[in-house]
Amino acid sequence: MTGADPLRLAILISGRGSNMTAIARACAEARINARVSLVISERPQAAGLDSARALGIETRTVAWPGTADRLRFEQELDAALAAASPDLIVLAGFMRVLSQRFVEPRAGHILNIHPSLLPNFRGLHTHRRVLEAGDAVHGASVHFVTAELDGGPVILQSRVAVRPRDTEDSLSARVQATEHIIYPRVIGWLADGRLAWREGRAWLDGKALAAPVVEEFDGSREI
Ligand code: GRF
Repeated sequence: MTGADPLRLAILISGRGSNMTAIARACAEARINARVSLVISERPQAAGLDSARALGIETRTVAWPGTADRLRFEQELDAALAAASPDLIVLAGFMRVLSQRFVEPRAGHILNIHPSLLPNFRGLHTHRRVLEAGDAVHGASVHFVTAELDGGPVILQSRVAVRPRDTEDSLSARVQATEHIIYPRVIGWLADGRLAWREGRAWLDGKALAAPVVEEFDGSREI
């Protein structure tokens, strides 16, 4: 761990917040040089808000007013974020699409995790779609956020084998367990100055990533 100031994180959630909790624990246990300054949800009933409070983290709700009022929503989000002045915005199961106006000025300062091996299966219901497609391998991707939905440069992927008896629930549970490992890992790389955003690409250890780093979870590890 470096002696640098911890990276200030604002985490945006819509639901359970298990990724948020995994990241907050990694911070609290000093496994990564970061600190969760604020957790925001657009759903006041998001269970993750309670988990964040239980961890002593400040929370805010910025209610979703409907698609017609996206600009107002993002302006309220801007104000909530300005108060916390995060170095990094972490989307963790945040179910709203952020506009180009919001994303572009923050290029390189927003991460997302998506439950598929991007660019495969952008969008929703990825586990079901993977099973329907009969794919043998599935996983999750941590990527920089750009204005293109689920389209920014992928940094790290977890890969898990699809098992013959997998259901949407069993597959999703196994992929989520890997998310809790790879998301803090990428934030740690940023905090240590190993990962950077330059000219629209992800750079790791001084080299532009031609392809995502891949971490295999092949059953030999308990997940
Ligand atoms: C995760 O599977 C993540 O990949 C997707 O939404 C889910 C959020 O789960 N973007 P949680 O709220 O972190 O438990």
